[in-house]
Amino acid sequence: MLADSLFIINHFAQEFFTQALLETDEGRHIGLSYLQERGLREHIIQKFQLGYNPENGDAFARAALDKGYNAEYLLKTGLIARRAGAQGSEFPYRDPYAGRIIFPVHNLSGKIAGFGARSLRNDPHTPKYINTPENEIYVKSKILYGLYQARQAIGREDECLLVEGYMDVLAMHQAGIENTVASSGTSLTTDQLQLIRKLTRRLTIVYDGDAAGIKAAQRGMDLALEQGLDVRLVLLPDGEDPDSFVHKHGAQALREFISSHKKDIILFQLETAAADVSDDIEKKSALINQIAATLAHLQDSTDFLRRQDYIRRCSQLLHIDEQGLTSLVNTFIR
Ligand code: GTP
Ligand code: MN
Ligand code: MN
Ligand code: MN
Ligand code: MN
Repeated sequence: MLADSLFIINHFAQEFFTQALLETDEGRHIGLSYLQERGLREHIIQKFQLGYNPENGDAFARAALDKGYNAEYLLKTGLIARRAGAQGSEFPYRDPYAGRIIFPVHNLSGKIAGFGARSLRNDPHTPKYINTPENEIYVKSKILYGLYQARQAIGREDECLLVEGYMDVLAMHQAGIENTVASSGTSLTTDQLQLIRKLTRRLTIVYDGDAAGIKAAQRGMDLALEQGLDVRLVLLPDGEDPDSFVHKHGAQALREFISSHKKDIILFQLETAAADVSDDIEKKSALINQIAATLAHLQDSTDFLRRQDYIRRCSQLLHIDEQGLTSLVNTFIR
């Protein structure tokens, strides 16, 4: 089957990249020293099976084709690409991830579905990360980076933490917060939330406290509530991600910051909005409708008390009648 072939190629590639990272001079001097400069310890590099794609523009493509893997399948994995103007050239393929750090992305059963590849340069003209293109086994909307490595800790802690990026997952695991996954640059999808929901109903979103982070968190909220997840939000100081936070303040400080800044996301939304609305009647009624629609997502029988509690707090915060808000919420319930 095609899917099996793609998994086999990805497995071969991961071993190639890991060997290139740990057992070649180039990999050690460039890739490994980069990871070490960023503070990553050996056990984390191993746990996530990180790798390095040599700078020489076709080392992987040659190795994979030599090994007998089918070029069409290799192209599908995104691990090789056709060389531009390759007509008649001696070797028509190249490595799109050449010179990059490789982050294998595992599915829940531990097979490698795809890769993220980070540039080592800070060059505005090259993309910082490249991800596997969509194919039969890599469906971006159904992938959470780190879920395989985090799954047991998520069960044990009965909580899943969600961060923005690859390096954040590594930093969190290294800081001992092993129940952490990332949506890796896409906004959260229903499929991703369902994956989490199978392991726990408690989701804590840990994003950068800038406008983009707040917006991304709020976008995920209604979807998460629909999935019956109990969502909390931790906003890091503006401009920080978990990785940069650890480097400034240490692992202990990150753990403390997260545990002391978890905020119920509905209350968060309510408080930010309420502060913003003040006395403007139109704004206020738009806000009330929006909140009622959100609260209507809490439809589980077990959500009944939470919903009531939110309604009570919300009516206090906005100085409106509790019964009235209850009826309004009910109009949004299908
Ligand atoms: P570092 O800079 O290595 O610490 O990575 P980061 O995770 O902090 O990067 P950033 O906060 O800029 O982006 C968060 C996530 O968005 C990354 O981990 C990637 O998954 C994704 N992302 C960032 N830049 C790009 C890009 O240029 N292309 C793609 N496809 N994804 C990106
Ligand atoms: Mn960025
Ligand atoms: Mn940001
Ligand atoms: Mn970041
Ligand atoms: Mn970062």
